[in-house]
Amino acid sequence: MASLKVGILISGRGSNMRALIEACAAADFPAEVVLVISNRADAAGLALAEAAGVPSRVIDHRDYDDRESFDTAMTEALREAGAGLVCLAGFMRLLSGEFCQHWRDRLINIHPSLLPAFKGLHVQERMLEAGVRIGGCTVHFIRPEMDTGPIIVQAAVPLAADDTADSLAARILEQEHRIYPLALRLIAEGRVRIVGERVLIDGLALPAERLLNPPPV
Ligand code: GAR
Repeated sequence: MASLKVGILISGRGSNMRALIEACAAADFPAEVVLVISNRADAAGLALAEAAGVPSRVIDHRDYDDRESFDTAMTEALREAGAGLVCLAGFMRLLSGEFCQHWRDRLINIHPSLLPAFKGLHVQERMLEAGVRIGGCTVHFIRPEMDTGPIIVQAAVPLAADDTADSLAARILEQEHRIYPLALRLIAEGRVRIVGERVLIDGLALPAERLLNPPPV
């Protein structure tokens, strides 16, 4: 099977980018990262990409007059690199409708909540305030409205009584690093179909585990 060429957009730390790069490094993984783009020159993830030998570019949104021209510059760079799929990994800019349309069904994101709950920013604080007992993370195809689109993979993470936003974020992040490579593999293997606004995945059984928080007494 030909390898799916992947572009990754980052703005910061890049730990999800690294998880994708590491997954792609395995000999039997059906995707390869051809380009990392950061909108910030000081993103820590750029050094990680370089250390992994993955080409990277800074495309600074402040160098462009408007969102559309910034997005067009990214599309050109991704096209030049031959990307067939674009993964957002902590990319903290809203995308234009045009960009979303151009990459429709070839553009995915990871978000640290069980969407459609807790869209937007400061997700972990808001989960603690709301008192939910189970949070998690989601990989989804992107539609123009923020944090919406067909859901590919989710992981559930129980909240602890003494959780802080940081401790919760760290536990969710561990699961992000599992589900993003999983979603990428499923797409690259051609097993993901979008039907309406739902994702159907060929050849998968329902997991046996059920998560209760608190656990049964
Ligand atoms: C991750 O937790 C990701 O889910 C979140 O930003 C963090 C980036 O970390 N993304 C969003 O909140 C997007 N709405 P990373 O740079 O280490 O991958």
